[in-house]
Amino acid sequence: MKALVLYSSRDGQTHAIASYIGNIIKEEGECDVMDLQDADAIDLSRYGKVMIGASIRYGHFSPLLDKFVKRHVERLNAMPSAFFSVNLTARKPEKRSPQTNAYTRKFLLATPWKPTQCGVFAGALRYPRYGWLDKVMIQLIMRITKGETDTSKEVEYTDWEQVKQFAVDFDKLAVKI
Ligand SMILES: Cc1cc2nc3c(=O)[nH]c(=O)nc-3n(C[C@H](O)[C@H](O)[C@H](O)COP(=O)(O)O)c2cc1C
Repeated sequence: MKALVLYSSRDGQTHAIASYIGNIIKEEGECDVMDLQDADAIDLSRYGKVMIGASIRYGHFSPLLDKFVKRHVERLNAMPSAFFSVNLTARKPEKRSPQTNAYTRKFLLATPWKPTQCGVFAGALRYPRYGWLDKVMIQLIMRITKGETDTSKEVEYTDWEQVKQFAVDFDKLAVKI
C-alpha cells in the first residue's frame, strides 16, 4: 500500500526533507508527499503507513500538527507511523535524538499518538531570508548557544545521510493488514 509523508514547514527545509524521503520511498514503492495544511480531511485508510515531519519556530511546532493528530489519532495508532522534527538545536549531535531534543521529547510525552519510529534532524539557518526581527532574534539565540552569528550567511546543518537512513528504516516497517 501507498505511503504518505506529511510536512509542516515555514521556510522550506522540512519540505525539502519530506521530498527527499518521498523520493527514496518511491524508488521501491508508491508515496504521496503533502503539506499538512492541505491534509486535514485526508482519508488515511488509503495509506499503509504515514510519516509526519514538522519544524520548530520559537519553541513550538505548528498548531496544525496537534490538530491533525487529534483528528486522526485512532488511525495513526493503528498503522505503522513515523514522526520527525526539524530544528536548529539539533545542529548539536547530542541534541539530535527524540530523548535529548527537548521539543521532540515534550511533544512525544504530550501527544496521544504513539509513532512507531521517531527522528530529529538539524534544520537550516538562512539569515538573508528572514525579516529583520526574526534575524535579530535568531542572531541572539545563536550568540547565546554559540552558533553562527554572521547574518550574511546561509548554513544547512541537515545530515542527509541520517535522513536517508530514517527513510530506509521507515520503508522496512511492515504494513499491518
Ligand atoms: C523565526 C524562527 C524561529 C526559530 N525558532 C527556533 C527555536 O525556537 N528552536 C530551534 O531549535 N530552532 C528554531 N528555528 C530554526 C528552525 O527550526 C530551522 O530553521 C528549520 O530548518 C526550519 O524549518 P522549515 O524551513 O521547514 O520551517 C527558528 C527559525 C526561525 C526562522
